[in-house]
Amino acid sequence: MERLDKWLCAAGVGSRSQARDMVRGGRVTVDGEAVRQPERKISGENAVCLDGIPLQDKRRTVVLLLNKPAGYVTSTSDPNDPTVMELLPEAYRSLGLVPVGRLDKQTEGLLLFTNDGALAHNLISPKKAVEKIYYARHEGTATAADCEAFAQGLTLRDKTACLPAKLEPLGAGESLITVCEGKYHQVRRMMAARGMHVTYLERRQEGGLTLGNLPRGQVRELQEREILELLAK
Ligand code: URA
Repeated sequence: MERLDKWLCAAGVGSRSQARDMVRGGRVTVDGEAVRQPERKISGENAVCLDGIPLQDKRRTVVLLLNKPAGYVTSTSDPNDPTVMELLPEAYRSLGLVPVGRLDKQTEGLLLFTNDGALAHNLISPKKAVEKIYYARHEGTATAADCEAFAQGLTLRDKTACLPAKLEPLGAGESLITVCEGKYHQVRRMMAARGMHVTYLERRQEGGLTLGNLPRGQVRELQEREILELLAK
């Protein structure tokens, strides 16, 4: 629990005395009710608004899941293309969120963001072996020999060695690929190493997290339980 004026400062509305004036002026609501006492105690569970606009505590750890559409680059800024940051709702823009790993411009699907550097590192590190599952449409059809080559650990055309991965053919020109690392264009290059050019790629799962019914282009904030589960994998 924390004083409302202190919490407002942490949310970035201004100085402590400006925050007090905002509260006394009736501009601040807690859970929908106007509160005029700056000393009122609140917790992370309370919804705080200033002039009707929801505020966020910049100190809290946030993990967002985006269902990325094609056409956006995974970067915080880019001179030529729209970035995934532009898909984040306004309320999340000032929390210092950065993408966890990257999806290519044309790849769709599950992309995480966080403002917790240690958490991001844990999710990306191949040592933590967080599994990522991709759906690919591609030229050719994956064979048992291709699956075996993935399981052994592929060597890419430029001689880069990959950790063992899983290739599951779904039918002609369609497969699921599971990898624990995130090298540049990894899945496309792994498939190319076996002569299967990828024409469409979607990340469907990371750790225990799936896209669920989240529409393309939308984000949702993960619950604390989901963050712990993700790291437990
Ligand atoms: N592998 C790729 O080739 N591209 C992605 O966007 C993600 C994994």
